[in-house]
This record gives sequence, structure tokens and C-alpha cells, in this order.
Amino acid sequence: MDDLISAAREAGSTAYAPYSNFQVGAALLFADGSVVTGANVENASYGLGLCAETVAVAKAMSSGTRGGLEAVAVTGPAHDPITPCGRCRQVLNELAALGGTDPDVHCAGADEVITVKLSQLLPMAFGPDSLV
Ligand code: THU
Repeated sequence: MDDLISAAREAGSTAYAPYSNFQVGAALLFADGSVVTGANVENASYGLGLCAETVAVAKAMSSGTRGGLEAVAVTGPAHDPITPCGRCRQVLNELAALGGTDPDVHCAGADEVITVKLSQLLPMAFGPDSLV
């Protein structure tokens, strides 16, 4: 968990967040031990910004990863633990559902980490199986 949070913090330091000045990092741990990170990427057209978790999922899926998601870490600049926004919960759920896992989500703050299951963050999720 500590290593995954460190990876998220490192990723967060590369965030492009000049408008909110709120740098977020995310790290995804897969069953094969690999880690994929992401950081938020904002835009002068404010509503087009991308969250760190979404960037990380896009990086993983665009390099062919499908499922195997075992854990997620999210870090931010606030003192309190940061939890993924609603859209990111849905985006994370898609990747997790492809491999049938329910990853731990480590929400890190300055001196506190809250660990919850993705299914707790997004109960009764709509996912790939909902379409069949
Ligand atoms: N943000 C994330 O990257 N992930 C979240 O789960 C919540 C919010 C970003 C979006 C925006 O760039 C900044 O944090 C302030 O909302």
C-alpha cells in the first residue's frame, strides 16, 4: 500500500493543474505486479479537464490491459483523504469488471489513509454485464 501511494504521489507531481492548483495522482496495481500511474490534466476550457484516475485507466487500457486491477491509490494536496469523483468511480469500475475484481481503493491524505472497496464507492454499479 505504501509503495502504491508513493507512486501516486510521484505521478501527482507531474499533474497539469494550473487552474485549480489541485494536483492529484493515481496509481493502479495489477495482478502481475505492474503499476500504471496518472495525474490530472486540466484545460483552458475548464470542463474538459481529465482526472488522475481516468488518465491512469486510459493509459492502462490503451496499452492493452483488460482487468486484473487489484488496488488503486489516489493522492491529493488536501489534508483529508481524497476519494475518487463519481465519474472516476465509473471509469475504474469498467476496468475492474473486465477482470471480475473488486479492488481496494486507498484514499490518501496527509496523515491518514482510508481504504475502501470500489464496490463500496460505487454500489449497484452499471458495468459491461449490464448491457447483456
Ligand atoms: N480530480 C482528480 O483528478 N480526481 C478526482 O477524483 C477528483 C478531482 C481533479 C480534477 C481537477 O483537475 C482537480 O482535481 C480539482 O477538482
